[in-house]
Amino acid sequence: SKALSINGKNHLEIGGCDCVELVNNFGTPLYVLDENLIRENCRLYKNAMDKYYDGNGIVLYASKALSTMAICKIVDQEGLGLDVVSGGELYTALKAGVPMDKIYFHGNNKTYEELEFAISKDIRRIVVDNREELGRINEIAGKQGKVVNISFRIKPGIDAHTHDFVQTGQIDSKFGVALENGEAYEIISEASKMSNVKVVGVHCHIGSQIFDLEPFKLAAKVMLEFIAKVKNEINIEIEELNLGGGFGIKYTMDDDPIEYDHYIESVSNVVKSICKEKGLKLPFIVMEPGRSIVAPAGITLYKVGAVKNIKNVRTYVSVDGGMTDNPRYALYQSKYEAVIANRADAPRVQTVTIAGKCCESGDLLAKDIKMPEIQAGDILAMLATGAYNYSMSSNYNRIPRPPVVLVKDGKARVIVKREDYDDIIRNDVIPEDL
Ligand code: LLP
Repeated sequence: SKALSINGKNHLEIGGCDCVELVNNFGTPLYVLDENLIRENCRLYKNAMDKYYDGNGIVLYASKALSTMAICKIVDQEGLGLDVVSGGELYTALKAGVPMDKIYFHGNNKTYEELEFAISKDIRRIVVDNREELGRINEIAGKQGKVVNISFRIKPGIDAHTHDFVQTGQIDSKFGVALENGEAYEIISEASKMSNVKVVGVHCHIGSQIFDLEPFKLAAKVMLEFIAKVKNEINIEIEELNLGGGFGIKYTMDDDPIEYDHYIESVSNVVKSICKEKGLKLPFIVMEPGRSIVAPAGITLYKVGAVKNIKNVRTYVSVDGGMTDNPRYALYQSKYEAVIANRADAPRVQTVTIAGKCCESGDLLAKDIKMPEIQAGDILAMLATGAYNYSMSSNYNRIPRPPVVLVKDGKARVIVKREDYDDIIRNDVIPEDL
């Protein structure tokens, strides 16, 4: 990864910080993020938006990948907007000072309170998922004397050949309204008759960790054809097209992601040619990358506690974290690369399985990966853990969450503090009559 190097002590280094020193200073497990790489990834998207769409659009960072106040501030400084999917993510962005007119609100079941909160803050866009929600938004906006700009989550019916759990663009999905059964068409015509919402855009997101270009191009085509149909048949001009996120990243040597710049160029060509063909004005384009902005910039450092060599079966390397800080193997059998941070260039001589410390057999971080010799006390770095790790962490087994440190030019700063046992019991109550 671009974030990493090996220093003179043969230690892994990230953002100019020696991982062994980071562990001495902050303990393990430890999430580490390279600030420069996050900024670079933001710029890559922003520059591509400027280059291929003449700046007629906005790049949103999908904050579900990693939402903390410092991260929100960084992406805001880089000129990106934000995609949030809950009141909590919205609150985080608000507290970090992100302007509300740069925030899009997604989700398939936003609560009444979340909608009231978002509308009271004049959020830029609510991406409507279903009819009940549309009704609620119109009602709340009416009460607050406002007109809310809305977009619609649409299922373009595209199978992006990714893991089942992260496929969200097909008709059998809890997200959005479908094109093929007319649902999308109907909800838009319904919305156009309401007085406290304004139909501004349509949105689709066809999946995550996608390596192919074709599904992205097809999604753009299908969505533009829909925009043309809505214009021709019910005379509603949809000005904004949100193409979602989903760009794959390199977790292992076998992964071969498309160049994001190339993807954006190819899709922009599709957008331009279809608009021309259909006589449409070029829509304002929105993109929502999450994973590809933060995943490659993050690593997680663990201490090895035990190595269990079960002859002719498997070698388990147990670390002091696990599914509580990274549930992705347990959920998706995700693959990762790991490095022994205190002997970074050691040859990979054995196949091991990295196990966590939770009381659960499925609590693995990586299965059957090639690693060097490993002993208790070694520091293991899991790579590319910047996305969907901290944001999906839990306190299972009452394990406190690790801290997040942000590194840059040899300096490390805490952006999320380590939880302690008092955090664990903070909301516990023993009733007086117990
Ligand atoms: N926009 C929408 C509407 C989304 O649903 C998502 C991700 C994104 C943008 C960002 O997609 P990205 O660029 O990060 O692929 N927890 C899973 C990933 C779930 C993704 C859900 N939606 C994982 O760990 O792989």
